[in-house]
Amino acid sequence: MKYRIGVIGAGSISEMHLNAYQAHPDVEIAAICDVNEERARAKASEYGASRVYTDYRELLAQPDIDAVSVCTWNNSHAEISIAALEAGKHVLVEKPLCKTMEEALKVQEAVKRTGKVLQVGFVRRYGANAEVLKQFIDNGEFGEIYYAKASWLRRLGNPGGWFADIERSGGGPLIDIGVHVIDICWYLMGKPKVKSVSGNTYKKLGNRSNVKHIEFYKAADYDPSFNTVEDLANALIRFENGASLMVDVSFTLHGKQSGVEVSLYGERGGIILEPELKIITEKYDTILELAPQMDHPTFDFNQGFANEIAWFVSAMAGEKETLSPVEDGVEMMKILTGIYESARLGKEIHF
Ligand SMILES: NC(=O)c1ccc[n+]([C@@H]2O[C@H](COP(=O)([O-])OP(=O)(O)OC[C@H]3O[C@@H](n4cnc5c(N)ncnc54)[C@H](O)[C@@H]3O)[C@@H](O)[C@H]2O)c1
Repeated sequence: MKYRIGVIGAGSISEMHLNAYQAHPDVEIAAICDVNEERARAKASEYGASRVYTDYRELLAQPDIDAVSVCTWNNSHAEISIAALEAGKHVLVEKPLCKTMEEALKVQEAVKRTGKVLQVGFVRRYGANAEVLKQFIDNGEFGEIYYAKASWLRRLGNPGGWFADIERSGGGPLIDIGVHVIDICWYLMGKPKVKSVSGNTYKKLGNRSNVKHIEFYKAADYDPSFNTVEDLANALIRFENGASLMVDVSFTLHGKQSGVEVSLYGERGGIILEPELKIITEKYDTILELAPQMDHPTFDFNQGFANEIAWFVSAMAGEKETLSPVEDGVEMMKILTGIYESARLGKEIHF
């Protein structure tokens, strides 16, 4: 039996979903929906979907569709996910889960009520480097992980369009790329309960759309003329078990280069997850750097999305629980909105 899938939102990231679904033996891409009909038609013909919609409700009314990927702007994630669950579909919703805590709790309630699978698109959890590392962590190789540091600084890379419109995105680099690195640290630290957050946001440089000669990821409707989001955010997150996480993320910054750096520190060893998986340890009074040998020691997008979608299909088949459930999406929204609130008030927020 093949699962029939609908993809809602046919912009830039939908391609990663569609490629992964297309390669999956148990899946048929049945329908594509986008408010931009031409874009939906183009994707449908590229991926062999027979049905095209501009209103997601019409897609959800199709009884034979088993599941959907929600790849729209952040401001419609909650509404579409809830409607899909209520229509009896399983849902893979892109990160962030939504824009606000209120919406997050409504999505969580809908998952409980309908009993359908909802997987949040925390794709970095599905990367091979995270998978390898998780085994080491779960077997206690690092002891207690008490500190993590995550940095995703783009010197130039405001994706424009809706990403730059706070009403549709909910924020800038913190909610867009910060969510990935905060989540992967929190997940690898064993999902400790968050105690407090203290954050700062800055809007100093605009989107620097004047800069030439450097390419970067863009929204399907790239428009540099509008920008209401921060260009830099940083935060200190404290957990109830005493662990802490420091993070900084930017859409633009006067830095030498762009890059992702994620490190975690435990009692018995350290981890560099990005830019490339390394394990730091000590043996016979000597510090060692171990380099796991693998095809993708850094996060690989194609492989990450293929694994994420394979996991989603297994979850809808009842073979395993999703690795990124709605509860984790809610906890991430608590952290992200808490950081924005802390920055706005200029003080630490306690939960
Ligand atoms: N996991 C990742 O690494 C990753 C990377 C990029 C983007 N994303 C997430 O994916 C989502 C989409 O981002 P993108 O880069 O593809 O943006 P995009 O602007 O390129 O595409 C979004 C598409 O959604 C359509 N759309 C918006 N509202 C809709 C609605 N109500 N019904 C139907 N179609 C609608 C738009 O017309 C557009 O074609 C965002 O939530 C973003 O955070 C995730």
